[in-house]
Amino acid sequence: MLRTVRAVLDANTELPLSIGVSRGRVFAGEVGAPFRRTYTILGGTAALAARLMAKAAPRQILLPEELTGQSATRFAAEPVEPLKLKGLTEPVRAVSLGAIEASAAEEQDQRTAKPLIGRQREMAVLTASLAPVRLGFGSVIELVGEAGVGKSRLLAEFRSTAEDLRRLGARCDEYESSTPYFVFRNLLQPLIVDDLDAPAEQHTGELRETVERIAPALLPWLPLIGLVLDVDVAPTPEVDELQPAFRRARLHGVVEELLRALIPQPTLILLEDVHWIDEASSELLRHLGATNASRPWAICCTRRPGDEGFVAATGTPPVAAMTILLEPLRDDEAAELVRASAGERLTIAEVDAIVRRAGGNPLFLQELVTSAGAEGTSDLPDTVDAVVGTRIDRLAPSDRALLRWASVIGVIFDGELIADVLAGEASAAGDSEAWDRLTEFIERDPYVAGGFRFRHALIRDAAYEGLPFRRRRELHQRVGEAYERRHAETPGEICELLSLHFSLAGDLERTWRFSLMAGLRAKEKFANIEAAEFYGRAVEVARALGVEPAEQAAIWEVLAEACTFSGRLENAKDALARARALAAPSAQAALMLKEGLLREEQGAYSEALRWYTRGEKAAAAIPDERDRARIEVALIRARAQSRFRQGRYEDALKLAKDVIEQAAELDDLGDLAHAYYLCHVIHTLRGSPDRHAFRGLALPIFEEVGDFAGQASVLNNLGIEAYYEGRWDEARDLYERSRKLRERIGDVINVATTTNNVGEIESDQGRYADAEERFRDAVRIADSAGQSLIAAVARGNLGRLAARAGRYADADELLSDALGALDSIGAGPSVLEVQARRAELLALQGSDPAEVERLAAETLSRAGAEGLPPTVQALLERIRAACFARTADLVEARAALRRALEIAERAQADYERALALRALAALESRQADANASAIFKRLGVDETALPPL
Ligand SMILES: Nc1ncnc2c1ncn2[C@@H]1O[C@H](COP(=O)(O)OP(=O)(O)OP(=O)(O)O)[C@@H](O)[C@H]1O
Ligand SMILES: [Mg+2]
Repeated sequence: MLRTVRAVLDANTELPLSIGVSRGRVFAGEVGAPFRRTYTILGGTAALAARLMAKAAPRQILLPEELTGQSATRFAAEPVEPLKLKGLTEPVRAVSLGAIEASAAEEQDQRTAKPLIGRQREMAVLTASLAPVRLGFGSVIELVGEAGVGKSRLLAEFRSTAEDLRRLGARCDEYESSTPYFVFRNLLQPLIVDDLDAPAEQHTGELRETVERIAPALLPWLPLIGLVLDVDVAPTPEVDELQPAFRRARLHGVVEELLRALIPQPTLILLEDVHWIDEASSELLRHLGATNASRPWAICCTRRPGDEGFVAATGTPPVAAMTILLEPLRDDEAAELVRASAGERLTIAEVDAIVRRAGGNPLFLQELVTSAGAEGTSDLPDTVDAVVGTRIDRLAPSDRALLRWASVIGVIFDGELIADVLAGEASAAGDSEAWDRLTEFIERDPYVAGGFRFRHALIRDAAYEGLPFRRRRELHQRVGEAYERRHAETPGEICELLSLHFSLAGDLERTWRFSLMAGLRAKEKFANIEAAEFYGRAVEVARALGVEPAEQAAIWEVLAEACTFSGRLENAKDALARARALAAPSAQAALMLKEGLLREEQGAYSEALRWYTRGEKAAAAIPDERDRARIEVALIRARAQSRFRQGRYEDALKLAKDVIEQAAELDDLGDLAHAYYLCHVIHTLRGSPDRHAFRGLALPIFEEVGDFAGQASVLNNLGIEAYYEGRWDEARDLYERSRKLRERIGDVINVATTTNNVGEIESDQGRYADAEERFRDAVRIADSAGQSLIAAVARGNLGRLAARAGRYADADELLSDALGALDSIGAGPSVLEVQARRAELLALQGSDPAEVERLAAETLSRAGAEGLPPTVQALLERIRAACFARTADLVEARAALRRALEIAERAQADYERALALRALAALESRQADANASAIFKRLGVDETALPPL
């Protein structure tokens, strides 16, 4: 009763209703003289209700206080002044009825109040998993099982046993599996927005207030939160400056912090049906899952088997989760379930027949029991689909039609929408009695006035499957149009659904229009996988619609970009090929450049180079001379980059020089700065003095054109140079500036690089604890971003540090890991560097000197071709010297140290110089070398922490 009156008021009618409620016996019947009889309700109970109604303000519900306690549903209630009511001596203590307080999931508990059968083992495991959560250590749990096996039921039970925890939940929806952040929006909205139906501006205000209150540091990132919540937020410079490729990562960090502030207490977060999760939510969930150990949250997901949606163990990074596979019920449990549902109605033989047929699937068992009433058990259907299908077939035609129409809208639908869809349709009618006749399949959604839902997704599927193909298309069209009418002003808000329905309806024009809209919207949310899906839907219909080839090509190109950003490089290649097939001759060269850059990203440098060559030829078709020249320069620049990555430094330098000449002429500052930068990097890595000429050139240009990524790269490289040259304070300063810029544009991965670089200085200084923390940080960030190169480099540094600190076993493991990873990437120079450290470890450990010397010499011999930094070359010579010294070959030892000294001096590498001097002094049994000590002092190196080598 209370729910009904609540729903009536919430239905937003124009009428200023006031409601009074009471409970008790009444007299009801026809009253009055025979010629004027009316049906009336009389008595104290009715009078009380009427008096309360009279006192109630418009849109208020008043009732005696004690009644709220008698309701099965929990409502918010506010006491009002005790009321003196006409005809009553005692004042009535009344309350004003507020909103329903029990959440949808609690409602689920009530709905599934039938006892849980079996599952003791699973419950024990689940309950035990909460102990660490209560102490502040989070976990991720996956409940996996076939449809109808009882995941949701188990989850509801689990939920009800965790009464001391806060409980939050959201479910994924098959129709929304391409709507970016659908499930997180549903999870977050209730925590931030008071009234979901309030106008949009109010949500914006509420969001800002909440963030201001609980996490003010996040205010600059508000637009990112707005994207997840679908709330409009004014842009901020911080978000605008983020590079597209890094926005996603920043968004993850921001939402994580917001959630931390919103839910500080031990909490159970329940996510249902993540096999249908949208990709953007899935990635966010992966991020939260990977970092969840430090938060008091138990994140519990349910999903069906298979690799769709969010699967904790597969994906980058894999999330450590406890996976519980839900098996079918045992026969005795199944029989218990049948008896619990059927009571005494079925014979033992019938129960047996049902148990055998259902194979332990609780949903199937229940549906079979329902059918058995009418059909008997002689000929039981094989699947849930079939059993539900037969029951649907037995419905009256108009009810059956209604059910099927509803199935087209989805598992959850609202009455108004379906009325709209049905308008003018004689074959189906959504009167309220019809819904009552369908309770076997559909129930009212108690929290949404006029809302309905299928009792189970599989029941909806069965209803949908029964629709012939043509009919389905027709209905999707109607549903799409009904949505379109309802959101005539703001179709953008539901363009994802519109795109889906119209594409299922085969409405080409609308599919094209809404898919482009949805694609753009997904792109703005950095949801590239979803963007690709929608653009894909658009291009699919484009030809049949007769869209201009050039326009089609442009969409393929955007699609390729979305695929590239989401790391689906193969799909990106396909899309680019389609774009090339449709694009005009003059657009070919630019597309080929993109083809090459894609190969470069994959590390396929020679393939990339072939594309650049093709691009150069195709550029001839560009009529405007300047445009042509620009593309040509961009192609040469790309070529230089690939040659550099291949370690072909000479060639790369030559190409960079070409770029410098032509770019200057064209006023093409971007390419010019990149070429300068490339020259500086190469000369620095080679320890060549030519680097000085390029040192100051790139930075001011990048500054002028506002290219933050370029600036950050230059600063980092200047830092490396300063580090090699023993200007360590300056190096730290440069790294710090680079790090700040990278943080600003959201380039977390390269932030890890600078962190690693600062660690190298600290490790050299003998500040092992500080350095270790930095390297670990870098490894963690790089691992979670799936950046194996950076992770391996930082691991190599951790290994070196362990060796220096005398932890040889750790060092061995770390260096092997690093080496394996670098080898498989084919990162030549880095492989050699780690190999050098391995030799260093072996020498420190006192392994066979002849063998270590061989390893060092061999590594060194490959240095010239692959660009090994001079510091590493000097290190290798020192290792060789130590080996010679151990075999008492002092002449060779001294010669090696002299070579180390020479290399260090030529490259102005002070630290290495000091190490070589120190070793020489030791070899000659001198006390210490004054020059070396002076250098160490200047660099802040703790000499006592240095290993003997
Ligand atoms: N152990 C159980 N004891 C009693 N009833 C159960 C049990 N397991 C499931 N049920 C009932 O069986 C039906 C199907 O279960 P449920 O909805 O939990 O399946 P599911 O695994 O979540 O399926 P889906 O993948 O479609 O979401 C529900 O009505 C549920 O109440
Ligand atoms: Mg379920």
